[in-house]
Amino acid sequence: MSLLVWNPEWDTGIALIDAQHRILLGQVDVLMTAIHENDVDRHMPSLLAFLADYVDEHFQMEEERMAATGYPGIEGHRAIHDGMRRDVASLVERFEVNSQTLNEEVLDFLMDWLVKHINGEDRRLARHLHQWADANPRTQP
Ligand SMILES: [Fe+2]
Ligand SMILES: [Fe+2]
Repeated sequence: MSLLVWNPEWDTGIALIDAQHRILLGQVDVLMTAIHENDVDRHMPSLLAFLADYVDEHFQMEEERMAATGYPGIEGHRAIHDGMRRDVASLVERFEVNSQTLNEEVLDFLMDWLVKHINGEDRRLARHLHQWADANPRTQP
């Protein structure tokens, strides 16, 4: 059973970004289902391991595209990513100390990511990438 479905408004129209965002949503759904079924302890270690890898790869991919296309909002967007990198590192660290306290916090963090970051910063970036692609039809960022 899926508790969370993709909101088409979250689509950026950039295939790789959307594919990775959907993978993130899948993990949020796993966590929501685990909370619903009172089975978080079994899922949290793999979820946090996933998040640690994900912030590394996904943010780096977005930042490379920003740099390659001269995105004017790069500094602000990267600073937000850096804050989220620190948040994930802190969640991972604190989970090792006390797993019980984190369930709601991890869920809030992920929902904020989906709703605010993807819907805000990432969509602004995508608008820039589309404009850049229109202006540079033969080049891949
Ligand atoms: Fe993103
Ligand atoms: Fe982003």
